[in-house]
Amino acid sequence: MEEDNMTYYIKVKADGPYLVYGNPPIDQEIIRPNEDGKAWLYEKGIHFETEPKEDGHISLCRCGVSKNPPFCDGSHRHAQWDPKETDNKKEFVDEAKKYPGPEYTLEDNSKFCIHAQFCTTSGLAWALVRKKSDTEGHEKLLHEVCHCASGRLMLRNNSTGEIIDKPFPPSIGIIEQPELKISGPIWVKGGITIIDEDGKEYEIRNRVTLCRCGKSKNKPFCDASHIGEKYNDGLPTDGGSEIW
Ligand code: FES
Repeated sequence: MEEDNMTYYIKVKADGPYLVYGNPPIDQEIIRPNEDGKAWLYEKGIHFETEPKEDGHISLCRCGVSKNPPFCDGSHRHAQWDPKETDNKKEFVDEAKKYPGPEYTLEDNSKFCIHAQFCTTSGLAWALVRKKSDTEGHEKLLHEVCHCASGRLMLRNNSTGEIIDKPFPPSIGIIEQPELKISGPIWVKGGITIIDEDGKEYEIRNRVTLCRCGKSKNKPFCDASHIGEKYNDGLPTDGGSEIW
Protein backbone atom coordinates (compact mmCIF):
# COMPACT_ATOMS: atom_id res chain seq x y z
CA MET A 1 0.00 0.00 0.00
CA GLU A 2 1.48 3.37 -1.02
CA GLU A 3 -0.49 5.81 1.05
CA ASP A 4 1.51 8.80 -0.23
CA ASN A 5 0.02 8.25 -3.65
CA MET A 6 -3.54 8.14 -2.42
CA THR A 7 -5.19 11.48 -1.85
CA TYR A 8 -8.42 9.83 -0.76
CA TYR A 9 -8.78 6.43 0.82
CA ILE A 10 -10.97 4.51 3.23
CA LYS A 11 -9.70 2.00 5.77
CA VAL A 12 -12.15 -0.54 7.12
CA LYS A 13 -11.46 -0.79 10.83
CA ALA A 14 -11.58 -4.41 12.00
CA ASP A 15 -14.25 -3.98 14.68
CA GLY A 16 -15.31 -0.41 14.07
CA PRO A 17 -16.06 2.28 11.53
CA TYR A 18 -14.77 3.28 8.12
CA LEU A 19 -11.82 5.64 8.51
CA VAL A 20 -12.02 8.13 5.64
CA TYR A 21 -8.83 10.00 4.71
CA GLY A 22 -8.39 13.02 2.43
CA ASN A 23 -11.59 14.76 3.58
CA PRO A 24 -13.71 14.11 0.47
CA PRO A 25 -17.06 15.93 0.30
CA ILE A 26 -19.90 13.99 1.94
CA ASP A 27 -23.51 14.67 0.94
CA GLN A 28 -26.86 12.97 1.27
CA GLU A 29 -27.98 11.52 -2.05
CA ILE A 30 -31.75 11.14 -1.96
CA ILE A 31 -33.37 8.83 -4.51
CA ARG A 32 -36.46 10.45 -6.02
CA PRO A 33 -39.04 8.65 -8.16
CA ASN A 34 -40.53 9.64 -11.51
CA GLU A 35 -44.28 10.17 -11.94
CA ASP A 36 -44.76 6.39 -12.12
CA GLY A 37 -43.15 5.99 -8.70
CA LYS A 38 -39.96 4.41 -10.05
CA ALA A 39 -36.41 5.41 -9.07
CA TRP A 40 -35.38 8.26 -11.37
CA LEU A 41 -32.81 10.71 -10.03
CA TYR A 42 -30.64 11.72 -7.10
CA GLU A 43 -31.28 14.91 -5.19
CA LYS A 44 -28.61 16.39 -2.98
CA GLY A 45 -29.67 16.75 0.66
CA ILE A 46 -27.55 17.57 3.69
CA HIS A 47 -23.94 18.52 3.08
CA PHE A 48 -21.99 17.14 6.04
CA GLU A 49 -19.27 19.45 7.29
CA THR A 50 -16.33 17.42 8.55
CA GLU A 51 -13.42 18.13 10.84
CA PRO A 52 -10.76 15.46 10.37
CA LYS A 53 -8.80 14.20 13.37
CA GLU A 54 -5.10 15.00 13.71
CA ASP A 55 -4.05 12.15 11.43
CA GLY A 56 -6.52 13.38 8.78
CA HIS A 57 -9.40 10.90 9.09
CA ILE A 58 -13.06 11.10 9.86
CA SER A 59 -15.09 8.03 10.94
CA LEU A 60 -18.25 6.84 9.22
CA CYS A 61 -20.51 4.37 11.01
CA ARG A 62 -20.72 0.85 9.58
CA CYS A 63 -22.58 -0.88 12.43
CA GLY A 64 -25.90 0.89 11.89
CA VAL A 65 -26.52 2.04 15.46
CA SER A 66 -24.70 5.36 15.76
CA LYS A 67 -26.80 8.13 17.24
CA ASN A 68 -24.92 10.63 15.09
CA PRO A 69 -25.26 9.16 11.59
CA PRO A 70 -23.56 8.98 9.21
CA PHE A 71 -20.64 9.35 11.65
CA CYS A 72 -19.39 6.85 14.22
CA ASP A 73 -20.10 7.78 17.84
CA GLY A 74 -18.54 4.72 19.45
CA SER A 75 -21.84 2.81 19.75
CA HIS A 76 -20.37 -0.12 17.78
CA ARG A 77 -18.57 -1.25 20.94
CA HIS A 78 -21.89 -2.35 22.46
CA ALA A 79 -23.78 -3.17 19.24
CA GLN A 80 -25.00 -6.62 18.18
CA TRP A 81 -23.25 -6.95 14.83
CA ASP A 82 -20.64 -8.98 13.01
CA PRO A 83 -18.00 -6.60 11.64
CA LYS A 84 -16.11 -9.29 9.68
CA GLU A 85 -15.28 -8.50 6.06
CA THR A 86 -16.54 -11.33 3.88
CA ASP A 87 -16.16 -10.11 0.28
CA ASN A 88 -13.97 -12.49 -1.76
CA LYS A 89 -12.04 -9.60 -3.41
CA LYS A 90 -12.51 -11.03 -6.89
CA GLU A 91 -12.51 -8.29 -9.52
CA PHE A 92 -15.88 -7.12 -10.80
CA VAL A 93 -15.37 -8.43 -14.32
CA ASP A 94 -14.25 -11.91 -13.16
CA GLU A 95 -17.66 -12.68 -11.70
CA ALA A 96 -19.84 -10.56 -13.99
CA LYS A 97 -22.33 -12.14 -16.39
CA LYS A 98 -22.16 -10.68 -19.90
CA TYR A 99 -25.21 -9.58 -21.88
CA PRO A 100 -23.99 -8.64 -25.37
CA GLY A 101 -25.85 -6.26 -27.66
CA PRO A 102 -24.97 -5.08 -31.17
CA GLU A 103 -22.65 -2.29 -29.95
CA TYR A 104 -22.38 -2.62 -26.19
CA THR A 105 -22.20 -5.39 -23.63
CA LEU A 106 -23.90 -5.13 -20.26
CA GLU A 107 -21.76 -6.60 -17.47
CA ASP A 108 -23.70 -7.63 -14.38
CA ASN A 109 -22.19 -8.67 -11.05
CA SER A 110 -25.20 -9.14 -8.81
CA LYS A 111 -23.28 -9.46 -5.54
CA PHE A 112 -23.04 -5.65 -5.46
CA CYS A 113 -26.78 -5.02 -5.93
CA ILE A 114 -28.45 -2.57 -3.51
CA HIS A 115 -31.90 -2.93 -5.12
CA ALA A 116 -32.25 0.76 -5.89
CA GLN A 117 -34.02 -0.41 -9.06
CA PHE A 118 -32.98 2.28 -11.52
CA CYS A 119 -32.33 -0.66 -13.90
CA THR A 120 -36.05 -1.35 -14.32
CA THR A 121 -37.44 2.19 -14.61
CA SER A 122 -37.60 2.56 -18.40
CA GLY A 123 -37.48 -1.10 -19.39
CA LEU A 124 -35.06 -3.75 -18.19
CA ALA A 125 -31.43 -2.83 -18.81
CA TRP A 126 -30.77 -6.44 -19.91
CA ALA A 127 -33.23 -5.93 -22.80
CA LEU A 128 -32.31 -2.31 -23.57
CA VAL A 129 -28.69 -3.33 -24.30
CA ARG A 130 -29.97 -4.92 -27.51
CA LYS A 131 -30.93 -1.47 -28.86
CA LYS A 132 -28.70 0.45 -31.26
CA SER A 133 -26.90 3.54 -30.00
CA ASP A 134 -29.02 5.95 -32.09
CA THR A 135 -32.27 4.88 -30.44
CA GLU A 136 -34.26 6.12 -27.49
CA GLY A 137 -33.79 2.70 -25.92
CA HIS A 138 -30.05 3.29 -25.76
CA GLU A 139 -30.57 6.63 -23.99
CA LYS A 140 -32.72 4.83 -21.44
CA LEU A 141 -30.02 2.20 -20.97
CA LEU A 142 -27.37 4.86 -20.30
CA HIS A 143 -29.62 6.55 -17.74
CA GLU A 144 -30.27 3.28 -15.94
CA VAL A 145 -26.70 1.99 -15.89
CA CYS A 146 -25.09 5.29 -14.89
CA HIS A 147 -27.56 5.70 -11.99
CA CYS A 148 -26.64 2.28 -10.57
CA ALA A 149 -24.84 3.51 -7.44
CA SER A 150 -23.54 0.07 -6.50
CA GLY A 151 -21.71 -0.50 -9.76
CA ARG A 152 -23.54 -3.82 -10.22
CA LEU A 153 -24.09 -2.89 -13.88
CA MET A 154 -21.38 -1.68 -16.24
CA LEU A 155 -21.53 -0.98 -19.96
CA ARG A 156 -18.66 -1.81 -22.30
CA ASN A 157 -18.16 -0.71 -25.90
CA ASN A 158 -17.78 -3.87 -28.01
CA SER A 159 -15.37 -2.25 -30.50
CA THR A 160 -13.05 -0.38 -28.15
CA GLY A 161 -13.45 -2.39 -24.93
CA GLU A 162 -13.95 0.94 -23.16
CA ILE A 163 -16.27 1.22 -20.15
CA ILE A 164 -19.02 3.81 -20.69
CA ASP A 165 -19.66 5.57 -17.38
CA LYS A 166 -20.38 8.90 -15.76
CA PRO A 167 -17.13 10.33 -14.38
CA PHE A 168 -17.45 11.22 -10.70
CA PRO A 169 -15.06 13.34 -8.67
CA PRO A 170 -13.84 11.57 -5.52
CA SER A 171 -16.75 12.01 -3.13
CA ILE A 172 -19.05 10.18 -0.76
CA GLY A 173 -22.83 9.95 -0.86
CA ILE A 174 -25.13 8.94 1.97
CA ILE A 175 -28.02 7.28 0.17
CA GLU A 176 -31.60 7.77 1.35
CA GLN A 177 -34.77 6.20 -0.04
CA PRO A 178 -37.61 8.11 1.66
CA GLU A 179 -40.21 6.57 -0.66
CA LEU A 180 -39.44 3.22 1.01
CA LYS A 181 -38.84 4.81 4.44
CA ILE A 182 -35.32 3.39 4.49
CA SER A 183 -31.74 4.62 4.38
CA GLY A 184 -29.29 3.08 1.96
CA PRO A 185 -25.54 2.48 1.91
CA ILE A 186 -22.50 4.72 1.67
CA TRP A 187 -21.85 5.55 -1.97
CA VAL A 188 -18.12 5.76 -2.71
CA LYS A 189 -17.52 7.58 -5.99
CA GLY A 190 -14.64 8.55 -8.19
CA GLY A 191 -12.11 5.77 -7.55
CA ILE A 192 -11.52 6.27 -3.83
CA THR A 193 -9.31 3.41 -2.62
CA ILE A 194 -10.85 1.06 -0.05
CA ILE A 195 -8.46 -0.89 2.18
CA ASP A 196 -9.37 -3.88 4.32
CA GLU A 197 -8.43 -4.48 7.94
CA ASP A 198 -5.21 -6.23 6.82
CA GLY A 199 -4.10 -3.35 4.59
CA LYS A 200 -5.08 -5.00 1.28
CA GLU A 201 -6.85 -2.94 -1.35
CA TYR A 202 -10.18 -3.80 -2.89
CA GLU A 203 -10.57 -3.23 -6.62
CA ILE A 204 -10.66 0.52 -7.31
CA ARG A 205 -13.91 1.47 -9.03
CA ASN A 206 -15.78 4.58 -10.13
CA ARG A 207 -18.84 3.68 -8.08
CA VAL A 208 -19.39 1.20 -5.29
CA THR A 209 -21.49 1.08 -2.13
CA LEU A 210 -20.45 0.21 1.42
CA CYS A 211 -22.73 -1.31 4.06
CA ARG A 212 -23.80 1.05 6.82
CA CYS A 213 -26.63 -0.94 8.44
CA GLY A 214 -24.15 -3.52 9.75
CA LYS A 215 -26.05 -6.51 8.34
CA SER A 216 -24.55 -7.14 4.87
CA LYS A 217 -23.35 -10.68 4.20
CA ASN A 218 -20.78 -9.26 1.76
CA LYS A 219 -18.98 -6.72 3.93
CA PRO A 220 -17.68 -4.17 3.44
CA PHE A 221 -20.04 -3.90 0.46
CA CYS A 222 -23.78 -3.39 0.67
CA ASP A 223 -25.92 -6.40 -0.30
CA ALA A 224 -29.30 -4.67 0.18
CA SER A 225 -29.78 -6.11 3.68
CA HIS A 226 -30.83 -2.61 4.83
CA ILE A 227 -34.15 -3.14 3.03
CA GLY A 228 -35.11 -6.23 5.04
CA GLU A 229 -33.77 -4.58 8.18
CA LYS A 230 -35.79 -1.42 7.45
CA TYR A 231 -32.67 0.52 8.36
CA ASN A 232 -33.40 4.23 8.72
CA ASP A 233 -30.84 6.74 9.98
CA GLY A 234 -33.56 9.20 11.03
CA LEU A 235 -32.04 12.14 9.17
CA PRO A 236 -34.35 14.62 7.41
CA THR A 237 -34.70 13.96 3.69
CA ASP A 238 -36.24 17.19 2.44
CA GLY A 239 -33.53 17.46 -0.16
CA GLY A 240 -32.64 20.45 -2.25
CA SER A 241 -31.09 20.73 -5.66
CA GLU A 242 -31.27 18.06 -8.30
CA ILE A 243 -27.94 16.49 -9.10
CA TRP A 244 -28.79 14.41 -12.15
S1 FES B 1 -19.25 1.95 13.59
FE1 FES B 1 -19.01 3.21 15.33
S2 FES B 1 -21.07 3.71 15.87
FE2 FES B 1 -21.31 2.43 14.12
